Amino acid sequence: MNIQEAKFLMSNSRLEDCPPPTLPEYAFIGRSNVGKSSLINMLTGQKGLAKTSSLPGKTQLINHFLINNNWYLVDLPGYGYARVSKDSRVKWGRMINYYLRKRENLACVFVLLDSRHPPQAVDLEFMEQLGAEGIPFVMVFTKADKQSGSRTQQNVVTYLQTMQQSWDEVPRHFITSAEDKTGREEILQFIADVNEQLAQEADNA
Ligand code: GTP
Ligand code: MG
Repeated sequence: MNIQEAKFLMSNSRLEDCPPPTLPEYAFIGRSNVGKSSLINMLTGQKGLAKTSSLPGKTQLINHFLINNNWYLVDLPGYGYARVSKDSRVKWGRMINYYLRKRENLACVFVLLDSRHPPQAVDLEFMEQLGAEGIPFVMVFTKADKQSGSRTQQNVVTYLQTMQQSWDEVPRHFITSAEDKTGREEILQFIADVNEQLAQEADNA
């Protein structure tokens, strides 16, 4: 899929203020600093579209981007950032959980995981929660450029084996690098396929 146009629409802390749920939506989530905003910039080919930072905690709100006038990308704040107060963590949880459970046009959640790290409890628990709520998601292993390809493969295999212990069917995964654009075509193709499937379902309804 080609990205003809990608524009920032709005930032919100409340689901009620988000754009009308009339187009398929893809939300990016994961630990602070895992590379959510960078991946959105890489996919859209616009470096400054989503704000990035080397310091965790950059993205604070629900950010909507409109792509090709046809679907939304959503950049969310990260979780698991140790220096955040308990109060903000509770607020984060409320805002994000409400958004994830209630956003009716949410087509798929992309859960970002750092390809350099072994499975972390906070991510495994987050995915368990998505599964329990019946929210569709895929996994994205980020920052693959930071180590050798064989090291990435090894870590991904370990991750999938861990997932197999609690999942009958392990969700689909992608390997990405915002630096060298690894995984870009695969993710855009996946989104195109889901968009197509949703359009067909709407036709048949
Ligand atoms: P929060 O908004 O704080 O939750 O973080 P985020 O997940 O949006 O991360 P962000 O995209 O801001 O990236 C965090 C840091 O990691 C930045 O310094 C990025 O340049 C760097 N980074 C992100 N993706 C990659 C990647 O694929 N490769 C490399 N080498 N660095 C990356
Ligand atoms: Mg961010």
